[in-house]
Amino acid sequence: MLRDTLLYLAQNDSLRNFVITNRATRGVSRRFVAGEVLDEAVEVTRVLNKRGMHVALDHLGENVTDAKEARAATQDFITALDTIKQTGIDANISIKLMDISQPLCEENVHRLLEHAHKYSIFVRIDMEASAYTEQTLDIVLRMHQQFEHVGTVIQSCLYRSKKDVEQLIAQGVRVRLVKGAYKEPKTIAMQEKSDVDLSYVQLMMMLLSRGNYPGIATQDEAIINATCKYARDHGISKEAFEFQMLYGIRRDLQEKLVAQGYNMRIYVPYGSQWYPYLMRRMAERPANLVFVMSNALR
Ligand code: FDA
Repeated sequence: MLRDTLLYLAQNDSLRNFVITNRATRGVSRRFVAGEVLDEAVEVTRVLNKRGMHVALDHLGENVTDAKEARAATQDFITALDTIKQTGIDANISIKLMDISQPLCEENVHRLLEHAHKYSIFVRIDMEASAYTEQTLDIVLRMHQQFEHVGTVIQSCLYRSKKDVEQLIAQGVRVRLVKGAYKEPKTIAMQEKSDVDLSYVQLMMMLLSRGNYPGIATQDEAIINATCKYARDHGISKEAFEFQMLYGIRRDLQEKLVAQGYNMRIYVPYGSQWYPYLMRRMAERPANLVFVMSNALR
């Protein structure tokens, strides 16, 4: 209920204006978002790298709806790739597909991947709501035939995911495994957390055993422990996979895993459109809202 309200408020203009113009809420958002510009994300990345963590940069830009905006957004990603190369930070990038015609979208993804290929920097195509699953997988699988440095994300809540994971494993595509951040209908997605968790563990086992350097992306300590145990029991090296967690969330656990010798990649969002991202994190854990609001009212 509170989760639905927060997801609804993510679209509310008055609250958005309050949060983005209020100095305190802007400041507190920095716990979860690196900043509004790339330079701030680079600084955050340097700090995380010093702590032994890899980074995935995620540019939170405007919604793209036409060819001109698509070119500009692609140029932003290309600038991020150039900056990674020039600064020598340990980072790759995550992108979202643009809501434009498939040929135009592919043209821009192709341009970006060509650029990333020159630097051997990995590009992950994030997974959005189920309306985009088919298109995303289709683009990733075709692009992967040309560029090995592209991968995607699978959501354990979807019934189709086992089949998708099999296909991605067969083609050697790198997968980030997540539970799924979108509200999906029961015809296509599990609704009970226990089912989503069980599905996650089953997919994690498939990916650890047969996948190409999977990213186990979760803050769920029980699942993280199950992953470590599965790897230990099956002689799977710590080098064969990485954990991935969101910037600012369970920092204690991030550091503990690094100290134990696991690869840890932190997903670092930055950009002007940070408000909807922040609200999604609040919806996942309303205790974060108390943290943000209590600081705002101080
Ligand atoms: P779950 O929600 O069950 O939480 C387990 C525990 O983690 C909680 O009890 C709490 O302790 C902690 N926790 C979780 N969220 C928290 C928060 N916001 N604040 C504080 N503590 C929190 N989804 C998607 O659909 N497409 C995508 O491309 C991605 N990409 C992505 C990348 C990375 C690196 C991560 C970590 C996650 C995603 N996600 C995603 C989001 C994912 O689907 C999911 O919504 C969140 O990770 C929350 O689920 P958990 O696995 O953490 O478990």
